[in-house]
Amino acid sequence: PVLYVLNGPNLNLLGVREPDIYGRETLADVQALCERAAEGAAVVFRQTNYEGELIDWVQEARETASALVINPAGYGHTSVALLDALKTLTIPIVECHLSNPAARERFRHRSYVSPAAAGVVSGFGPFSYELAVTAALRLVQERRA
Ligand code: DQA
Repeated sequence: PVLYVLNGPNLNLLGVREPDIYGRETLADVQALCERAAEGAAVVFRQTNYEGELIDWVQEARETASALVINPAGYGHTSVALLDALKTLTIPIVECHLSNPAARERFRHRSYVSPAAAGVVSGFGPFSYELAVTAALRLVQERRA
């Protein structure tokens, strides 16, 4: 299976960005963690600061991916367009956050992505990604069984 792991804005600065909230590990570290958790499945790991590019990649995943993990970052709280794109997919989608948005400011409590997701993993730092990848692959297996 091919697993897409898509990351939204500002996650390129992981490790230096608000480390008290997001930790010291970089996005490259997170990518390595995902590749390990994928246990041989191909991982397409990407980050963008552009909403349209994120949407293009979601559309691309329609053709090529067996499952999608997405940390939409700030766009999760704002983007109807991202939700619309995710709704076009039939593969399993897992939403993933480093922090626990429900324990933070009110404007982070709403996610436009969650209605399209099979489930959400948040609050465990980079380990959230590991759990999300494991869950996504499990969902792929279940569909094939
Ligand atoms: C985030 C949480 C969002 O609220 C925030 O806008 C981010 C990162 C997380 O991974 O914890 O950029 O998605």
